Amino acid sequence: MPLTQSREIACASRLEQVRYAIRDLACVAEEVAKQGHKILPLNIGDPLNFDFATPAHMIEAVYKAMRDGKNGYSHSSGVKEALDAIRAEAGRKGIHTIQDVFITSGVSETVDVCLAALLNPGDNLLTPCPDYPLYSAVLAKLGIGLNAYYLNEEDGWQPDLEDIKRKITPRTRGIVLINPNNPTGSVCTRQMLEEIADLARRHNLVIFADEIYDKLILDDDPHIAMAAVAPDVPVVTFGGLSKNYLAPGWRIGWGIASGDAAVIRPYVEGMNKLLRARICANHPEQYAIKPALEGPQDHLPEVKRKLRSRRDLTAKWANETPRVSLVAPRGAFYAYPSIDIPEPDETFVCELIRQKHVMVVHGSGFGQRPGTQHFRIVFLPDERTLTAAYSAIGDLLRERYA
Ligand SMILES: Cc1ncc(COP(=O)(O)O)c(C=O)c1O
Repeated sequence: MPLTQSREIACASRLEQVRYAIRDLACVAEEVAKQGHKILPLNIGDPLNFDFATPAHMIEAVYKAMRDGKNGYSHSSGVKEALDAIRAEAGRKGIHTIQDVFITSGVSETVDVCLAALLNPGDNLLTPCPDYPLYSAVLAKLGIGLNAYYLNEEDGWQPDLEDIKRKITPRTRGIVLINPNNPTGSVCTRQMLEEIADLARRHNLVIFADEIYDKLILDDDPHIAMAAVAPDVPVVTFGGLSKNYLAPGWRIGWGIASGDAAVIRPYVEGMNKLLRARICANHPEQYAIKPALEGPQDHLPEVKRKLRSRRDLTAKWANETPRVSLVAPRGAFYAYPSIDIPEPDETFVCELIRQKHVMVVHGSGFGQRPGTQHFRIVFLPDERTLTAAYSAIGDLLRERYA
């Protein structure tokens, strides 16, 4: 008789802390799709699900790289021409104390490498609340508890400095700043960047500046890079091709480590150990980085024009809809309205999928101040689709909480 294994294989208990609400809602959506309904997806930040396309010259560059035989492993940090292009771009943004640059499988892997190389058991890292759930998932994987600081809705979702100060402990090693922010769409002021840099100096923190949306600023203000404001502070700036350059499936991200060379050196060495262990990022796709950063940028005005119009439509709807209020987003493609409802936002969001076939993500999936309720909208779809979705959300609010 062949031997069979009969005991369940349990997953690691630290995974209990991993929440990834964006994808978790997929189970409810599947149920609804099985009944034959088409779901309006306002839940995943992938521009290519909508009327956006990867710039053709980038596709050509990857195709050419494949035809030219760039199909083996690359250097662990990435290919030279791409690294040079990232350095030059950082220089244009005023980042001049660069100590290292490395290319990863999306910013998702940059985060993984950066946090794993920094944190020991018992250390903590300040992360925003609401946050982009990748950070808490990576921390859970490392067995590190959350130390979340609030973003202040009353202050246009700027970081709550007093809360940050309260939460710094002797074991706090760093702070994550997502700017422009997911899920709120806020953009940090220069003064805020300066104040956070000052706290980092005083408490010897590394700043993780997640600036993956830095070219998707919707109003006239320029994006200010944290590492430019704080040249002496250890900063790792995150960027990539997923959002600004409309190529999320290529999985190309990068980290730029800057600050005082002597201070940041051991940490940079640690990161490089991990980078070597995982071999390299996707090789041929790295050849799109230079053409992306240095070639034609004409997709950007068009992307921003569409996003601005869709943001304005979203803000107008939120203003006119009872129980909804919104700090208008200034960057990226997310809106995070608060909703005044007598039940958990997760229940509302599940019912929205079941009854109206519209998918957004509940605020509790990102974290929020106790007693508040929100949901996150991805406003990438065209105006007609958004209008239909907002009308359905308004209907459910009226029907359920009249
Ligand atoms: C703030 C933020 N950081 C990082 C990522 C991950 O990006 P990548 O596709 O480069 O892994 C995302 C994706 O949505 C994001 O919103």
